[in-house]
Amino acid sequence: MLEQIEKLEQQALADLHAVQDEDALQRWKVSHLGRSSSLMKTFDQLGSLSKEERPAIGRRANQAKQALEAAFNQQSDRLRQQTLERSLQSERLDVTLPGRPQVRGRLHPITRTLRQINRVFGDMGFQVFRSPEVETDEYNFELLNIPAHHPARDMWDTFHTSTPGVLLRTHTSPGQIHVMRKYAPEPIRVILPGMCYRYEQVSARKDTQFNQVEGLAIGKNITMSDLKGTLTDFTRRMFGEQVRTRFRASHFPFTEPSAEMDIECFLCQGAGCGVCSGSGWLEILGCGMVHPVVMTNGGYDPTKFMGYAFGLGPERITMLLHQIEDIRYLWGNDIRFLEQF
Ligand code: PHE
Repeated sequence: MLEQIEKLEQQALADLHAVQDEDALQRWKVSHLGRSSSLMKTFDQLGSLSKEERPAIGRRANQAKQALEAAFNQQSDRLRQQTLERSLQSERLDVTLPGRPQVRGRLHPITRTLRQINRVFGDMGFQVFRSPEVETDEYNFELLNIPAHHPARDMWDTFHTSTPGVLLRTHTSPGQIHVMRKYAPEPIRVILPGMCYRYEQVSARKDTQFNQVEGLAIGKNITMSDLKGTLTDFTRRMFGEQVRTRFRASHFPFTEPSAEMDIECFLCQGAGCGVCSGSGWLEILGCGMVHPVVMTNGGYDPTKFMGYAFGLGPERITMLLHQIEDIRYLWGNDIRFLEQF
């Protein structure tokens, strides 16, 4: 019996030596140390041995079991170490390889200007109102006191769609009617930013698509001096206290009286140049007191309510802020231009 145990142990150790991976190791454990292994069975047989034989054989069987367990643990450690080394070799990282540079995105200069404009008016209590870029003739013109065939329509060269009466808005002013019809007869203080479209000959100052930010304030005691004060304050907050501005009398069918606001030309400091077409000033907005007809179309009683409106051009403002000499750069999508911001 002692030799048998000796043989079992030798055989097991020899088998263990050949084990090369974790699966084989587990299989080895089951067949040499598991419940139904030959070695474990010798423990069951101890009871049937004589009193004299039992202690020596029991001790020997125990020794063999401990020897196999110790060898198993050693082999298991060795295998784990081997696996680790293999993966360290195969997944080796060259930490000296330079990384790939990340391209950092940035906001379009117009988006930045729009956000700045929103912030300045937001600080003054204006809320942002969104209105559609595809409009009807009724909203873009009729309700703003510009009847069909009226010469005032010449101010807005228009893109028409193939559906009669549906067009791309030429200005954000139709939004005035949308807001008024939504809130009448409550007081209103909103700005309406967004893209507008005109069928025009492009130049350094004009493009076929551009943003506007419309402003509208309606209440019981709103006057022209509120309009002037608000816009003057706006230009100071955008351009700094020293900015030179002027109001010029003008005409729009939907405001009365009407004005335009200019800012001194950045390029020639007012002397007159190509960008300002010799005038020394760049127009940045049109404005005026809301016309009684428009007030009525919006659902307000013009004998009780007064209001002002303005429509300013973020592209022009961006040109002034960054000394950009041609408006076409802004939507030309030239990365070399955009990367400067
Ligand atoms: N809608 C006018 C334009 O596009 C600007 C404007 C807006 C003028 C509001 C007066 C009041 O030219």
